[in-house]
Amino acid sequence: MSDVRGVAVTGRQQKRVRGGGRVRSAVLWEALRTVLGRITPEAGSRDVVDVGGGTGGFAVPLAELGHRVTVVDANPDALAALERRAAESGVRVRAVQGDAVDLPDLLGPDAADLVLCHSVLEYVDDPGAAMAALTGAVRPGGSVSVLVAGQVAAALHRAVAGHFDDARRVLTDPAGRWGEGDRMPRRFTRETLSALVRGAGLRVAELHGVRIFADLVPSGLLDGDDAEALIALESVAAVHPVLRDLATQLHLVADKPAG
Ligand SMILES: C[S@@+](CC[C@H](N)C(=O)[O-])C[C@H]1O[C@@H](n2cnc3c(N)ncnc32)[C@H](O)[C@@H]1O
Repeated sequence: MSDVRGVAVTGRQQKRVRGGGRVRSAVLWEALRTVLGRITPEAGSRDVVDVGGGTGGFAVPLAELGHRVTVVDANPDALAALERRAAESGVRVRAVQGDAVDLPDLLGPDAADLVLCHSVLEYVDDPGAAMAALTGAVRPGGSVSVLVAGQVAAALHRAVAGHFDDARRVLTDPAGRWGEGDRMPRRFTRETLSALVRGAGLRVAELHGVRIFADLVPSGLLDGDDAEALIALESVAAVHPVLRDLATQLHLVADKPAG
């Protein structure tokens, strides 16, 4: 994370991801660019599997960058939207309907250099089983990119909104939920996410906090003249040992040992 100006969305993606979306996703794209450059030393396209990739918010830009992308998602409507989005962008993304835990049956072993699992582990029945399946789909020497909702941030956000009982419940509930009205089934801390990944036999390589300040400041600042400064701040804070734990989303890159 040395290049604080670095935002990996370039060209067509840069034009499309504007304002708040660009600020919120800058750290994540920078991390993805880094891992894609690292997992295979020689230049070239990689096999990427996006589990729960939905309508292609990550898959289509990655295909535009030249990678061979497969999306596995349980929702056929999301896959139909993905196919439309890919066609509009002039790229091919393979769409496979199925459950994350069935990944080995759907794709076979060692199918990908990089497996993405972004905003999905919060919803699956068994996160441990899903992580084991993701791991099976990664080639030795490849990586997994996992993005999840942060438990600590949820407590902060509820407290700032004046919901102090909710904030207390988020911190004490094992699933990190604030009550029956909470639509998020599960949240993670750095510790619970790292344990999940290690339990699947992966080595934690990097952990980033995504959206540390972007969800706390007035939303108008995300589109204004200060957006670049905020991106630079998010980029530095993403790897700060204290601040990263306060992020709305926790992003973890884990490697599968080679051989
Ligand atoms: C919040 S969306 C995230 C979409 C995308 N990954 C992103 O970050 O923009 C969650 C996606 O996970 C999919 N999903 C939920 N449970 C799943 C499961 N058990 N197996 C496969 N996909 C699942 C949903 O259909 C949905 O498309």
